[in-house]
Amino acid sequence: MIRIAPETEADGWEIEYLLDTAFTPGRTALSSYRLREGVEPVAALCLTARDDDSGASLAGCIRFWPIKAGGRRVLLLGPVAIHPTRQGEGIGARLILESLDRAKSEGWNACILVGDEPYYRRFGFAKSEVLRFPPPTNPNRVLAKALQADGLDGIEGEVTRWVES
Ligand SMILES: CC(C)(COP(=O)(O)OP(=O)(O)OC[C@H]1O[C@@H](n2cnc3c(N)ncnc32)[C@H](O)[C@@H]1OP(=O)(O)O)[C@@H](O)C(=O)NCCC(=O)NCCS
Repeated sequence: MIRIAPETEADGWEIEYLLDTAFTPGRTALSSYRLREGVEPVAALCLTARDDDSGASLAGCIRFWPIKAGGRRVLLLGPVAIHPTRQGEGIGARLILESLDRAKSEGWNACILVGDEPYYRRFGFAKSEVLRFPPPTNPNRVLAKALQADGLDGIEGEVTRWVES
């Protein structure tokens, strides 16, 4: 049985370990990490998936950050990671669907990510032709999804860190 719950401070080291395992420790060189530097994650949307049957070990996690696109505050989905021994069981899908539902309810207009379109298209993400991520980012991996009607209107141009003014 998988239980989805909001991330807590106590999850911290286990999440870092899971992210290193799923992506390799070199993950922090990715340009998406530059967009997260010095910015607080969106705590209400950061979720963990724990397995009740095996000492509640961490099976997966998802995190979100605010970013700026087209002058607006939108969501950056990721990282999302499932433990290599638990991939393909639908845990990634559950984390993504649950967090996007919460994001909609909280009024977020749009969500952006850098990832594999063949995986994310099932959640309604499509390649963006109008967003520019900091290099080096493969433009074919820049995906976006509206969370409200017309939620992607005006979401174009440079994607930058969200800095509170
Ligand atoms: C990508 C990831 C989050 C998916 O989570 P998951 O729980 O394994 O996936 P689900 O069980 O929800 O979905 C499985 C389906 O997705 C497909 N899939 C998984 N990764 C895929 C990818 N990168 N591209 C295309 N399809 C993919 C599987 O083939 C399977 O297809 P099926 O339903 O037709 O059998 C997970 O495999 C993972 O953590 N991978 C390593 C880290 C990573 O790449 N994170 C995402 C960065 S963008």
